[in-house]
Amino acid sequence: MFDTTKKIGILGGGQLGKMLGIAAANWDFNIHILDKADCPASLVCQSLTVGDYNNYENVLDFGRKMDLITIEIEHVNTQALHQLVKEGKTVHPNPIALDLIKDKGLQKEFYIKNNLPTAKFQLFENEKAVINAVKNSNLHFPFVQKTRTAGYDGKGVTIIKNQHDLENKLLKGACLTEDLVPIKAEIAVIAARNERDEVTIFPAVEMEFHPEANLVEFLICPARISTLIAAQAEALAEQVIRAFDVCGLLAVELFLTPDNELIINEVAPRPHNSGHHTIDSAYISQYQQHLLAINNLSMGDTAQKQPAVMLNLLGEEGHIGKVKYEGVENCLALGGVNVHLYGKKTTSPYRKMGHVTIVADNLEVALKKANFVKQNLKVVSF
Ligand SMILES: Nc1ncnc2c1ncn2[C@@H]1O[C@H](COP(=O)(O)OP(=O)(O)OP(=O)(O)O)[C@@H](O)[C@H]1O
Ligand SMILES: [Mg+2]
Repeated sequence: MFDTTKKIGILGGGQLGKMLGIAAANWDFNIHILDKADCPASLVCQSLTVGDYNNYENVLDFGRKMDLITIEIEHVNTQALHQLVKEGKTVHPNPIALDLIKDKGLQKEFYIKNNLPTAKFQLFENEKAVINAVKNSNLHFPFVQKTRTAGYDGKGVTIIKNQHDLENKLLKGACLTEDLVPIKAEIAVIAARNERDEVTIFPAVEMEFHPEANLVEFLICPARISTLIAAQAEALAEQVIRAFDVCGLLAVELFLTPDNELIINEVAPRPHNSGHHTIDSAYISQYQQHLLAINNLSMGDTAQKQPAVMLNLLGEEGHIGKVKYEGVENCLALGGVNVHLYGKKTTSPYRKMGHVTIVADNLEVALKKANFVKQNLKVVSF
């Protein structure tokens, strides 16, 4: 039932929480947020509980007042979520899947156990163990090193190509190493599933990365891949969401190799950067679909109305402090340009401050306009 009285609690009030809140407001859904006082979602929710989503007591107290609990970030206190499930609360995604996904080591082991394709990997207690493995010829250059927990936006990932990198670039703490995959394209597919095991899939998107920040800079939908590979990627996403038994959204990040093999990089059980464009370009947005799925409702049509390009608005280099935006009107004047600002008060280099979606009848036109936006819309400080 489309129940607008149910209290939906979201752990985290960043930009994803804000966009969930905007989608919810349009349906008169009842959204409550647990996060810091001035978080982006604080403007669009029914109530904000100021607290720490990593704190057991804070999450438990907040969750007990809700009918349904979900997340916008996976790094939350899952112990409290397990307790809430025990007490009969509905929690989506389920905390067992969250525990697996939060730890990249457990996540990789899950793929192996479930026969899902992923890059070869090894687990290490700390960086010294990595150095020893290289010394003993159990690990060879080049490889990718990732911290097991708390990495996001490429910050917990480094590529080790040689002895110099090994001495200077290794990340500290418990980690895993992966084979460096030759990548022809990076693809993301967002799946959504409700409690009745109905699954819908958004069309595959293609990601282009910012060379220095290692952040997605352009996102292109539909991905410029064959319909066969797109269908394979979408089928894989469906398999993965069922394997994790996740209700709500699951974004699956994939590598396409030069041999046209699809390899799972990682997943995120929540709205994802690669689904922002759906607000402006698809019949249903990822945020609406998440709300439908976690409420065990029938889901919407994921088809694209128009091709789209999305770019993240990152804080300019050399600018730290109170934020201002330059060039917004010139970009809006192009037509087909939708600017989304998250409402973060301060900017710093490469901080995600907003995104822009450009829709057009074809991708070439959308890409041309996206390049204009990239040159002209700037996130700077006063
Ligand atoms: N095994 C690999 N081989 C080649 N490149 C890789 C590999 N693993 C990661 N990368 C590159 O590093 C990027 C970031 O890795 P990953 O997605 O694991 O980290 P993350 O910090 O969770 O990133 P984000 O939050 O931006 O998704 C990938 O998108 C890809 O470009
Ligand atoms: Mg990633």
